[in-house]
Amino acid sequence: MTKPAYKEKYPHMFEPLVIKRGKREVVFNNRVMMSPVGIVATGGGADNGRINAFGVDYWTGIIRGGFSSVALPMEIPAEGAHAGVFNMDPEQVNYMNMHLLQRSVHAYNGKTFAELIHGGRCMVAKNLELKAAADSEYQGRHVKGMDKEDMEEVLQLCREFASQARRSGFDGIMVHMAHGWLFHDFLSPITNTRTDEFGGSVENRCRFPIMALKAIRQVIGDDLIIELRLNGNDEMEGGILPEDAAQQVLLLQDYVDMIHITCGTRVDVTSRPKMHPTNYCPTEHNAYASEIIKKTPGVHIPIGVVGAISDPERTEKLLADGKADYVLMARAAIADNNWVNKVKEGREEDIRPCLRCLYCLDHGRRKAKVSGKELAMAAEVSFDRRCVVNPLSMQGISKKMFPAPLRSKKVAVIGGGVAGMNAALSAADRGHDVTIFEKSEKLGGQALLSDVMWFKKEMKAYHEWLERQVRKHPRIKLMMHTEATPEMISDLDPDAAIIAVGAEQIVPPIPGVEKAVMAFDVFGNEDQLGKKVAIIGGGDIGCELSIHLSGLGHECAVIEMSHYQAGNAELTERMSILQWMEKEHVNTLLDTQALEITDTGVRIKNADGESMLEADSVIICTGTRALTNIRDTFRDVAFDVINIGDCKKASNMQHAIESGFDAGYIL
Ligand SMILES: Cc1cc2nc3c(=O)[nH]c(=O)nc-3n(C[C@H](O)[C@H](O)[C@H](O)COP(=O)(O)OP(=O)(O)OC[C@H]3O[C@@H](n4cnc5c(N)ncnc54)[C@H](O)[C@@H]3O)c2cc1C
Ligand SMILES: Cc1cc2nc3c(=O)[nH]c(=O)nc-3n(C[C@H](O)[C@H](O)[C@H](O)COP(=O)(O)O)c2cc1C
Ligand code: SF4
Repeated sequence: MTKPAYKEKYPHMFEPLVIKRGKREVVFNNRVMMSPVGIVATGGGADNGRINAFGVDYWTGIIRGGFSSVALPMEIPAEGAHAGVFNMDPEQVNYMNMHLLQRSVHAYNGKTFAELIHGGRCMVAKNLELKAAADSEYQGRHVKGMDKEDMEEVLQLCREFASQARRSGFDGIMVHMAHGWLFHDFLSPITNTRTDEFGGSVENRCRFPIMALKAIRQVIGDDLIIELRLNGNDEMEGGILPEDAAQQVLLLQDYVDMIHITCGTRVDVTSRPKMHPTNYCPTEHNAYASEIIKKTPGVHIPIGVVGAISDPERTEKLLADGKADYVLMARAAIADNNWVNKVKEGREEDIRPCLRCLYCLDHGRRKAKVSGKELAMAAEVSFDRRCVVNPLSMQGISKKMFPAPLRSKKVAVIGGGVAGMNAALSAADRGHDVTIFEKSEKLGGQALLSDVMWFKKEMKAYHEWLERQVRKHPRIKLMMHTEATPEMISDLDPDAAIIAVGAEQIVPPIPGVEKAVMAFDVFGNEDQLGKKVAIIGGGDIGCELSIHLSGLGHECAVIEMSHYQAGNAELTERMSILQWMEKEHVNTLLDTQALEITDTGVRIKNADGESMLEADSVIICTGTRALTNIRDTFRDVAFDVINIGDCKKASNMQHAIESGFDAGYIL
């Protein structure tokens, strides 16, 4: 008998995971689970955290895509104020919808976890007293070191939560003991400075977390399994390291069924780009820690790992090498709900890559300042939760229910950048016949420029994925090397024309600007620059360019007029950019104006007055402007004309992808 091909290729990934608990066996279909994600749950953000039909659809979609389990974050106390997590308040919980979720997930033999999070010092609610392991300050608020009465209060919340989870039909409870939340606060020597029986030795630091696990087990017995989220590394000086975590596992494992390893703490906000790994963080960055823990003598329960895991072959290798017994993915699952099924079907090349941009998590948090170890937001969070690459994610089911087109249409797409390709794909998927006109020899537009930067691998993977999908779509015809004109498109007589001609770089009116080089012309031609480089414009691209060029040995200075560098980047990504600019010794001049470009550099002005910044090469990176003049020549070429992407509004990938997708989708 021959095995299915996927079992030959990925024997470890597709080996079911069996957890024995009492007389029960809980069988996970495979070793790939979805990591808890609060804010993407369409049922979570709506209805005050009560799961609704959108939520049921969302989580079932993940399981239908092949993931063996999902985990729904729920905060205790429910009014802890982390928006987007589910609400397990017994007064408010919507049991029937919880059960509808279980039924749909169980139809695919998937498993559900309720994730218990106690915010501890990180609770947001202003009316709640912050309590944690030890007396301290957090983000300007006093934190009370918990006494026995406080502990009993939390244990009671754990019991209530566990009881709700059981009544709601969950298969397991995942207890969050990482990332700076309450139980981690006790486990970590950084925050647990107690000198009583709850602080100091690893046994003492585990004491309160174990009391919580006992309280939960008391309520659920063997009916539900328990999984832990544990830090293998706090990524902060003086914090937990893998060897310490392994000692914790030896103590905690008797009370739980499985443990997975993550990293980082909210106490040091600069660890955020590792907790939620950005493009600057290596892939599978927690696997070294899970390996140390798993291979520690005496550890006998399954050990999982999470963090920047998305490549199928590397995932199989990680499991085959014994670095973990199972893996969890958050963003790979958000970006492509069908990740597991595509691997199973041998369609790895069709997996839509995640950009690791963290738009889904940061949802519009911009211009964040990192002051000391605390985080201050200079821009309001929009709570506009989206996945940049997966336009149907986090939209509820409303867009999915848009009526199908009444007939197949002839569609012309002008421009084969990210926006144009997305429009072509969604139109073709809806049954329309599409022709893309691209004036250059390559598809991808501006996204191609990033290919040379080491921290833009995901962007490269994404535009290459898009191109593959476009090239193999039977309803899409490509006209490369073809600069479309209004006459050409009119002659084609399409039902609809989608205009995606992009943007042009802005040339600022600085005297001597002709001596400078434009940023887009630098990519791929870096060897033509001198040693000392001045970049005028400290937006995302200017800052990224400085990291890229510094890595190639240039000495870079960035001149930025405003008070923020990379001010439009999302919070976590921005932190990575700032960290790397510092690491690469980029000279950042904020609140500084470029007055003139000369043969020897840039004359600048700031609070210190006027001075000369020496440079061998000057690069202009002051943003882009929609190509409205070209765009508008196509205004009357078809019955429907829709502008998308950068030519509608010079913006970013999110805008290019969503506006492109929508244009093709609504025809
Ligand atoms: C270096 C760099 C890094 C970036 N990094 C990020 C990032 O990290 N995150 C993010 O969100 N955004 C980023 N961006 C911005 C993002 O890449 C763009 O917003 C997005 O790619 C715009 O896509 P588009 O399809 O609208 O336009 P474009 O990519 O400009 O595509 C327009 C296409 O139209 C073609 N065209 C123009 N006129 C015609 C015509 N008449 N006939 C036929 N074809 C025509 C062009 O050749 C081009 O291929 C970055 C941009 C750059 C340059
Ligand atoms: C949108 C989003 C929401 C998240 N919400 C939670 C949460 O509520 N609870 C939690 O434990 N982790 C949460 N995480 C962290 C993930 O579970 C995971 O640990 C992290 O994203 C790293 O995994 P990845 O690289 O596969 O995305 C969230 C992550 C994302 C991207
Ligand atoms: S592409 Fe961006 S928004 Fe989508 S899952 Fe990945 S990190 Fe989140």
